[in-house]
Amino acid sequence: MPLVTSREILQLALAERFAVGAFNANNMEMVQAIVETAQEERAPVILQVSQGAIRYAGLDYAAGMVKIAAEQADVPVVLHLDHGTSFEQNVLCLRAGFTSLMFDGSKLPYEENVSITKMVCDIAHIIGVPVEAELGRVLQSTDGVTPEEVEAAMTDPDQAKEFIDLTGADSLAVAVGSVHAMKARQAALDILRIKTIRQKAGVPLVLHGSSGVKHESVVEAIEHGICKVNVATYLNQAFVRGMREGFERHPDEVDPRKYLSISRDNTKEAVREKIRLFKSNNRVDSSGGFKSPSRQYRSVDLGGSEE
Ligand code: G3H
Ligand code: ZN
Repeated sequence: MPLVTSREILQLALAERFAVGAFNANNMEMVQAIVETAQEERAPVILQVSQGAIRYAGLDYAAGMVKIAAEQADVPVVLHLDHGTSFEQNVLCLRAGFTSLMFDGSKLPYEENVSITKMVCDIAHIIGVPVEAELGRVLQSTDGVTPEEVEAAMTDPDQAKEFIDLTGADSLAVAVGSVHAMKARQAALDILRIKTIRQKAGVPLVLHGSSGVKHESVVEAIEHGICKVNVATYLNQAFVRGMREGFERHPDEVDPRKYLSISRDNTKEAVREKIRLFKSNNRVDSSGGFKSPSRQYRSVDLGGSEE
């Protein structure tokens, strides 16, 4: 089926208290692993590409792979830009057919974050594409962060309300205790903060840096308003473990497919584990519609309005 936007999927997740897995893909095998597993689990899925993935694969390849995977799938698939740090990057992705965008102005002064987020929302909303924004800042473990720095970078609930009112962003990435690219699940989230932001801001909330968060904390966060959970490092770990296993099992092999197929299988199991944790499995019926009768998603219509 054609790509769908993230709007209806996240609203459904909010209403039914589950979260949609947003999985970062860097190559064809990862795209296949994510979409195949979503189908097997009957789960809506967000396939996201970062600016790094776009630099690696090229924008048209990155978008093209996901579009082909979506067309062959019978579950809703969203193509999302992850951490777009400029207006220009968002416009390029809009033109390339992305059905969900992110402007990450978390490193900018608040006013600048507001004004560029609003510009991205204004242009994307013309063709019905929703936009995720970030307020507060989810830090990088590679920067050697301290617990005090994580605390200081957390999202302020009152500012979150004002930010959504000023920008019109459709969902909000929140800094609530997670840190990007952690290799072990050690972090616990500030659940009260999630609850308060959810009540004040009123939009679906997004958890970044989930690979380093304890599973029980992720589950609790979903109960209180997290509707999209981003997973990157955990999938990369599964993929690379597959390559290592392949080299050990077949040290003289020269066909890369022998290694990459193990990576793809490992990635599938990592995706399956997360989909079940987020409770997004068994949400889509055999015709590709949501099981909840009151909700349907819309594929993105890029046509102009009729005169
Ligand atoms: O935007 C991507 C995510 O926040 C991924 O974080 O690599 O810690 O899973 P992670
Ligand atoms: Zn992130």
